[in-house]
Amino acid sequence: MTNALALLHERRSVKAKDMVEPGPDAAALDAIMRAGHRVPDHGKLGPWRFIVFEGDARIAFGKALAQIYGAVNPEMGPDTAAAQAGLPVRAPLMVAVIFSPSDAKPIPEWEQIMSTGAVCQNMLLAAHAQGYVGQWLTEWMAFEPKVATHLGLKKGERVAGFLYFGTAADNPAERERPDLAMRISHYDG
Ligand SMILES: Cc1cc2nc3c(=O)[nH]c(=O)nc-3n(C[C@H](O)[C@H](O)[C@H](O)COP(=O)(O)O)c2cc1C
Repeated sequence: MTNALALLHERRSVKAKDMVEPGPDAAALDAIMRAGHRVPDHGKLGPWRFIVFEGDARIAFGKALAQIYGAVNPEMGPDTAAAQAGLPVRAPLMVAVIFSPSDAKPIPEWEQIMSTGAVCQNMLLAAHAQGYVGQWLTEWMAFEPKVATHLGLKKGERVAGFLYFGTAADNPAERERPDLAMRISHYDG
């Protein structure tokens, strides 16, 4: 239990660009996915799905991103194109978490969104628990409809995050955190 608490208290992100090999292997990725899949979920809807980008698939996605970015920003120069192509290959492994809402039961979409956020956070924690690091990014590509189309997202689906996983190149510095005490009040009737 102490270790679990330390994990929760110490987790922090490492920038995808500061990640190196090794990334999670098949067993570690499976543990990450199972942790992500086990979240509070009103109505047992499981309103999420995953797209895994491993190895050369990251390169292929990077090429698609550069093309899409160029289509949306016709003034794009070669440096910018190369930067977009490099986004998915910053880290050894990337997993897109797709919010996939269900109307099978009268569960508010807001609750389904929150569950999907919990999926992402559980995945980061599961990576951390296994000695890897992670970062949850959206950037432009999570909001660009042409990327959604390229990834085969259905109507109503959205990218909750592109989660990057790998090994930290350096020990990450702590960042300033919002003040906890300022955010706690006690109901007194
Ligand atoms: C939904 C979501 C989207 C995010 N998207 C970005 C992003 O596009 N770019 C970025 O620099 N950080 C983004 N972040 C923040 C990082 O994931 C991370 O939380 C931040 O670097 C602070 O690190 P920490 O996890 O150690 O607190 C996002 C976080 C969340 C929850």
